[in-house]
Amino acid sequence: MTTTKKPADLRSARWFAPDDLRSFGHRSRMMQLGYSEADFMGRPIIGILNTWSELNSCHSHFRERAADVKRGVLQAGGFPVELPSLSVDESFTKPTSMLYRNLLAIETEEQIRSHPLDGVVLMGGCDKTTPGLVMGALTAGVPMIYLPAGPMLRGNYAGQKLGSGSDAWKYWDERRAGNITEEQWQGLQGGIARSAGVCMTMGTASTMTAITDAMGLTLPGASSVPAVDSGHQRMAADCGRRIVDMVWEDLTPDRIVTEAAVRNAAIVAMATGCSTNAVVHLIAMARRAGVDLTLDDLDALGRTTPLVANVRPSGKDYLMEDFFYAGGLRALMKQIEDRLDLTAMTVTGKTMGENLEGAKVFNDDVIRPLSNPVYREGSLAVLRGNLCPDGAVIKPAACDPKYHVHEGPALVFDSYPEMKAAVDDENLDVTPDTVMVLRNAGPLGGPGFPEWGMLPIPKALIKQGHRDMLRISDARMSGTSYGACVLHVAPESYVGGPLALLKTGDIVRMDLPARRLDMLVDEAELEARRAAWKAPDPRFERGWGWMFSRHVTQADKGCDFDYLERGFGPAAGEPEIF
Ligand code: FES
Repeated sequence: MTTTKKPADLRSARWFAPDDLRSFGHRSRMMQLGYSEADFMGRPIIGILNTWSELNSCHSHFRERAADVKRGVLQAGGFPVELPSLSVDESFTKPTSMLYRNLLAIETEEQIRSHPLDGVVLMGGCDKTTPGLVMGALTAGVPMIYLPAGPMLRGNYAGQKLGSGSDAWKYWDERRAGNITEEQWQGLQGGIARSAGVCMTMGTASTMTAITDAMGLTLPGASSVPAVDSGHQRMAADCGRRIVDMVWEDLTPDRIVTEAAVRNAAIVAMATGCSTNAVVHLIAMARRAGVDLTLDDLDALGRTTPLVANVRPSGKDYLMEDFFYAGGLRALMKQIEDRLDLTAMTVTGKTMGENLEGAKVFNDDVIRPLSNPVYREGSLAVLRGNLCPDGAVIKPAACDPKYHVHEGPALVFDSYPEMKAAVDDENLDVTPDTVMVLRNAGPLGGPGFPEWGMLPIPKALIKQGHRDMLRISDARMSGTSYGACVLHVAPESYVGGPLALLKTGDIVRMDLPARRLDMLVDEAELEARRAAWKAPDPRFERGWGWMFSRHVTQADKGCDFDYLERGFGPAAGEPEIF
């Protein structure tokens, strides 16, 4: 360890060291908590930002893990303090957890800035918690280490492996087609989420923790360790030990999250067959670090990075538990190390290249060699055209290739309830060529950019045996979803983007190899429709939703708030202590 700080240089010393009335108050309140000066004076004070809650099933092990972190902090000579943080859970938060990612980011930033913390361990994992915590901590700027919740165990029912989300969608369609009994449905319900931990497909949670790992913000390979593996407890204690040293080394996140680290993270995302949500969150995290990552950068990496993680939903057979046994993220990164910047600094104080030394693949069907990828390219692709001038996203590897070039009539819905009622109508006028469209589902229109983008296949088609069709929306979709779904259309229809002008019956054309998405409607007609378009009523007129509506950016910019982005005014700096 290279010590660059002395006890007097600690940030927390501003609160505790001076011989004045205010510091007397701070010290006396620590004594009220039962601590002696020897416990906290001159030691790095480590905040453990814990997103545990009784309604976050993915983080149900976090109280025990926080205790493991504390053990490590104390052993290394630090002083741990646990701070409850907004637990943005994916399952129960309505209308959508994405409405609250930025709230967690603000809370994280301000919680760190306003308290006597020298370093932080961020405990998250369920989808939005990773970007929310990291975005806030990047802006706050104190040494930080990310502790990923880890994936839950493989799902299981009647001897069959079940994948989070993906199998729920799949068997729901079978149930709608009348192919599943009530007893089987109940069995699936009890078997699909068997332990603490995040969804165990390569959904948004595992994508985002892998991205954070690849950025150098976790202990090496920490993102792959299953939540209930004893190695997860050991990793938590290691986080506690390591963050104390990071404080003494003054290893701040700006030395870690550089352009090279962001690029490494984007390449790893593509190689894992990442969730489409990675686009929004990675751009937002990068912008907080002052790195201008664009949709076109991601498309270029999507074209050239083979998908080597054979993990569902993009891969075929395996789940995150299998990925861990096959060597986990370190092994995957070793496999593609020629494409990475191995000089990037990490929380270990070593480079990414040093962290990958000795990593091995133990099952080359789960983590494929570059000579035998799951797909040569295509984790993500970015489309442009007269329907999406600021971009749209699709996951080519997760959709039926027959839709890669497709032309068909649009069937347009203005709201989710309208669409939901229609798809269950067995007489709906729809064919496999129809292009289903849902609008008013973006960051402002949803509101909050909900995960509605995997529009349900109409019952009429399900009964004919169809399981995919081209679908377009300005919504997101769950990272565990799949199918020919074009998402994140920008600008969104709610603010008058071209999707607002589309009418049922218009012909829509997608050409994925050419990265185009267009409505074949002549410009004069579009101009007339544009002139007739009226802005919808505001979604919120008070509270958080009002603030969100005024400041959230569009999908191609990462949906951060404009006033939280780097460069919006001078940095907040340290609080005055009077
Ligand atoms: Fe928490 Fe999927 S619901 S990660």
